[in-house]
Amino acid sequence: MKIYLVTGGAGFIGANFVKYLLKKHRNIRLIILDDLTYAGNLGTIKTDLKDQRVVFVKGNIGDSEIVTNIFREYPIDYVVNFAAESHVDRSIENPQLFLQTNILGTQNLLDIAKKFWTTGKDENGYPVYREKVKYLQVSTDEVYGSLGETGYFTETTPLDPRSPYSASKTGADLIVVAYSETYKLPINITRCSNNYGPYHFPEKLIPLIIKNILEGKKLPVYGDGSNVRDWLYVEDHCKAIDMVLLNGRIGEIYNIGGHNEKKNIEIVKLIISTVRNLMEENKDYRKALKTNSSRSDLNLQFPDNPDWINEDLITFVKDRLGHDKRYAIDPAKITKELGWYPETKFENGIVKTIRWYLENQDWVEEVTSGDYQNYYQQMYGDR
Ligand code: NAD
Ligand code: TYD
Repeated sequence: MKIYLVTGGAGFIGANFVKYLLKKHRNIRLIILDDLTYAGNLGTIKTDLKDQRVVFVKGNIGDSEIVTNIFREYPIDYVVNFAAESHVDRSIENPQLFLQTNILGTQNLLDIAKKFWTTGKDENGYPVYREKVKYLQVSTDEVYGSLGETGYFTETTPLDPRSPYSASKTGADLIVVAYSETYKLPINITRCSNNYGPYHFPEKLIPLIIKNILEGKKLPVYGDGSNVRDWLYVEDHCKAIDMVLLNGRIGEIYNIGGHNEKKNIEIVKLIISTVRNLMEENKDYRKALKTNSSRSDLNLQFPDNPDWINEDLITFVKDRLGHDKRYAIDPAKITKELGWYPETKFENGIVKTIRWYLENQDWVEEVTSGDYQNYYQQMYGDR
């Protein structure tokens, strides 16, 4: 039996990974460590927490006592570190928190894993570790910086982060590599492109646009909407991480992406037409509308005809500072070495995702009931 420490398991990708593992592998135990920041929600994993194989610990990855106690109590085989501050816009407002969580938190996990996994020393003074343990750092393509019109990020593309978020993720990657080189700690790093799917917090582009449509709000597009992101369905990312954990070569970095580049404006237009089509197809979906709430920008009284869901809702707002132009991943290495490929085509994944949001408004309400309205006002009120 393998025992996983999954950090950030109550967030978007971490929670999807927990669900993926529980379905895929029978004989496992998952210890979820999550500090339940604004981005982490127990509601996201409430059914998983009922599973006997799962233990939840609330705590900060930077807290050495909490992490030490976990390693003392459970003989952890794999650490998969999803825990992070993950939103570029927030990193522009408060860089320090990003350095604390993403860099120092990572270093704390590495240190404690190293301590508990060490069984002795070799003749050159390098630590020797328990067999078949591994630390996997979940990283991002944003560490490579920004591309022009052409080209792709490979694993050897020089690191060139531009935002406080990507700089902090790069710092974390470098410390992981340092532990691999200096202490021979068995590690992998995965660098994935933008994910989308269920449980995505509505501060990020796709869920924010869906939420705004349902509330009859304007749809904010930064700059002229021509920035490009390379979108991957979250379950395909989870599959890749599982494969790297089980079969990735020790010390290696793997890029993950499905060759699915889209301009932001294309994404927003696609969401608009998909929401409208789904509401035309199935009247029940109209129950998700909250257009008569005080949050609405429009003066709509639940019009039966969803024609008002159209491109007039788009509003071009002030651009993000230092907005990276284009990301695009070359996934040739993980495909060749591990046989990974993305299973969900974007056209299907986006419809699946939008349906999920239409059917899970309770979740959206729950996760945005706290500080979200203040955040929204501060971010978009003055754009
Ligand atoms: P998220 O913001 O949805 O979730 C982050 C989770 O980490 C939350 O549950 C939060 O409570 C928890 N957390 C934050 N600080 C913590 C701390 N100090 N200690 C313990 N838990 C803490 O993020 P996500 O989108 O699920 O991203 C997960 C990871 O994947 C991140 O490392 C991110 O950099 C990386 N990544 C994300 C994407 C993407 O498109 N979302 C793409 C590539 C890589
Ligand atoms: P986001 O989902 O924040 O992910 P990332 O910045 O990590 O790529 O943003 C995706 C793209 O969408 C990015 O180019 C910024 C843009 N964007 C908007 O145009 N409007 C918005 O309200 C948000 C949140 C993002």
